[in-house]
Amino acid sequence: MLVYAPPHPLIKHWLAIMRADFTPPPMFRNACAELGRLLLYEAGRDWLPTTQQQVVTPLGHTAEAELCDPTRPIKVIPILRAGLVLLECSAQVLPFQQTYHVGYVRDPDSLQARPYLNKLPAALSPDDLFLVADPMLATGGTVVQVIEDIVSRGGRPENIRVVAVVVAPPALKKLADKFPGLKVFTAMIDEQVDERGYIVPGLGDAGDRAYG
Ligand code: PRP
Repeated sequence: MLVYAPPHPLIKHWLAIMRADFTPPPMFRNACAELGRLLLYEAGRDWLPTTQQQVVTPLGHTAEAELCDPTRPIKVIPILRAGLVLLECSAQVLPFQQTYHVGYVRDPDSLQARPYLNKLPAALSPDDLFLVADPMLATGGTVVQVIEDIVSRGGRPENIRVVAVVVAPPALKKLADKFPGLKVFTAMIDEQVDERGYIVPGLGDAGDRAYG
């Protein structure tokens, strides 16, 4: 499994804003959306399907052109709630996409994730490309359930990319064991998960910080 944390000053900047306890909800959401945009850009490198075309410029000249392929839209899967904020700008970054919302909430005691919304189509193609977004991969229980669901409907783990703000070792281990072909794009690999299931140092509860 590949885990990539792009060494970019803007990614570090927006991560710091998200981490800081004084950041109010509107600024937290803006920072999260910016990080989503930047990580999406990295995740799309050498991955987004393109098609070769020719375009005519205003000078009347013909130029060779490479465009994103409209016949292969990326299937974007934000995990509610906080994944919605992370991919707020995805429609501006990806020229062709389809969004399928899924909602999970983690029990604070057992840390087990329970689904409460699922808009995935019944059948998916092995050729489909998926982008799963959740700001935090802590124990990994939530994201693993989502990926297992995609795979059970026909998607291939090798065609799934995960975008997350902070990820913790337990989640990475679980994902690597189950889906070695997966690729994860993140701002930071944090040290650990505490006894309450929070990533440390982390950024608190992303859903609560974004929505109150
Ligand atoms: C948080 C977070 C992830 C999940 C991570 O969501 O946004 O979805 O917990 O935990 P895990 O890796 O241990 O499963 P939460 O359940 O708090 O829901 P929310 O986004 O609605 O706040």
